[in-house]
Amino acid sequence: MKEKIIIREPKTEDEFQKYYDLRWQVLREPWSQPKGSEQDKMDKESTHIMAILDDKVIGCGRGHFNSKEQAQIRYMAVDNNFQRQKIGTEILLVLEENLIKKGAKEIILKARERAVSLYKKQDYRIYKEGEILFGEIKHYWMRKEI
Ligand SMILES: CC(C)(COP(=O)(O)OP(=O)(O)OC[C@H]1O[C@@H](n2cnc3c(N)ncnc32)[C@H](O)[C@@H]1OP(=O)(O)O)[C@@H](O)C(=O)NCCC(=O)NCCS
Repeated sequence: MKEKIIIREPKTEDEFQKYYDLRWQVLREPWSQPKGSEQDKMDKESTHIMAILDDKVIGCGRGHFNSKEQAQIRYMAVDNNFQRQKIGTEILLVLEENLIKKGAKEIILKARERAVSLYKKQDYRIYKEGEILFGEIKHYWMRKEI
């Protein structure tokens, strides 16, 4: 990962706008999903982590709690031009640290097939198959005990 890339929470309105734009660009636009489909009602009470290079947001990930001890990670995305440089891994690790501090004893996530190996490397294990999104993206539910 390049030295100038910083992994931290978005703070300003402008940073949040860029953060959601990246989510949409990487996770929704390629499947012709409308703007707004990249957000949900849990965003207000979630932990958000981004990777920022100068003033460009190039990575993002979110964590929320399903119960007192179970956290879930969603919306992990890295700009196409910066993938495979460990930015996703760094975001995941910072998110985990944050969720563990807040009391997570278990972290679950629903991984797109392509991302399964990323999570396996951080000790997540598949426990059931998920649905097929947008008619083509296979998902797997994965879990990590803390
Ligand atoms: C998945 C994603 C978030 C990973 O972020 P990243 O910064 O590219 O990943 P990393 O560089 O940290 O990769 C770590 C490991 O994950 C695996 N991995 C990551 N991207 C992969 C890909 N496209 N194909 C196969 N394995 C991949 C590899 O094992 C990789 O290790 P290696 O590069 O040493 O082989 C990013 O590629 C992305 O946004 N992809 C498109 C959207 C998406 O699928 N999001 C995940 C939703 S669950």
